[in-house]
Amino acid sequence: MYKIVKKKALNPSVIRMDIAAPAIARKAEPGQFIILRVCEEGERIPLTIADFDREAGTVTIIFQIVGKTTHMLSQLNEGDDLLDFVGPLGVASHYDQPRKAAVIGGGLGSAIAYPQAKKLHQMGVEVDIIAGFRNRELIILEEEMRKVSTRLFVTTDDGSNGVKGFVTDVLQKQLEKGIKYDLVVAIGPLIMMKMVSNLTRPYGIKTIVSMNPVMIDGTGMCGGCRLTVGGETKFACVDGPDFDGHLVDFDEAMRRQQMYKAEEKQTLEAHICRLSGKENSDA
Ligand SMILES: Cc1cc2nc3c(=O)[nH]c(=O)nc-3n(C[C@H](O)[C@H](O)[C@H](O)COP(=O)(O)OP(=O)(O)OC[C@H]3O[C@@H](n4cnc5c(N)ncnc54)[C@H](O)[C@@H]3O)c2cc1C
Ligand code: FES
Repeated sequence: MYKIVKKKALNPSVIRMDIAAPAIARKAEPGQFIILRVCEEGERIPLTIADFDREAGTVTIIFQIVGKTTHMLSQLNEGDDLLDFVGPLGVASHYDQPRKAAVIGGGLGSAIAYPQAKKLHQMGVEVDIIAGFRNRELIILEEEMRKVSTRLFVTTDDGSNGVKGFVTDVLQKQLEKGIKYDLVVAIGPLIMMKMVSNLTRPYGIKTIVSMNPVMIDGTGMCGGCRLTVGGETKFACVDGPDFDGHLVDFDEAMRRQQMYKAEEKQTLEAHICRLSGKENSDA
């Protein structure tokens, strides 16, 4: 069992938890993830290692409440236990000492991008962070991101805070101004990572994206997380989740992401109905 030692809501739908998992905290590196199970009947879901404290023996996860399992997880409190918490999984991010990097996070992707920015900052790299959110209520980790960046640009789609527009607008302006990045890390919705990769391609800037397809076993056995990268089949759980954004087939990844939408909606509705005691009218 893995105890929740700290829980904090970062915005109305995003929660941060520190989990007591000393063996994982000892080995964890930015870019890796865990797979957890809330209870015996629960499904396994992957979440990025947002931070770790080797001395305290804790691993931090930051998750958005999107469906049944993340909803069940959000109902747990400090002192409660998770049944399974397996990791660290995936390949740790590796960077060849860039000079200047832009780390770009879209929404919840900012939580996944943060440990990468922190690692680059600790390597002495000049880091610009561009973090985009739909509106000011959804902004997370602003102070943490400021501490590990040379410049932090926050964008909101509706202009309620920071720059009005998308993260790609800021990146485009920086590139047009002649800012010379030798690495761009983009983490967020598939469409955002595709657009960032399209922007950096003509400049020849190495661009790393973090892919988040549906994962089941997390060990390369089931094939659920397969992607096409540079014309070859790759498994995000064992070959990634980081990949060269210029080589990823984003259109295929977007098609595969839609495959289970109907089932996911049905499961969440049934779960909410059970909790509230109300009949599901679709059932
Ligand atoms: C390597 C990796 C790291 C991730 N890191 C984070 C993170 O740090 N924070 C966070 O909030 N989310 C993260 N995700 C996404 C997270 O796993 C899903 O939000 C979660 O599984 C949703 O489960 P659910 O039952 O609540 O929702 P569901 O209703 O089952 O699904 C909602 C959406 O979540 C995704 N999803 C569902 N099941 C899985 C699964 N088994 N594997 C992957 N994606 C799934 C799908 O896109 C789906 O449309 C990560 C995914 C991957 C692959
Ligand atoms: S999750 Fe099964 S192969 Fe990657």
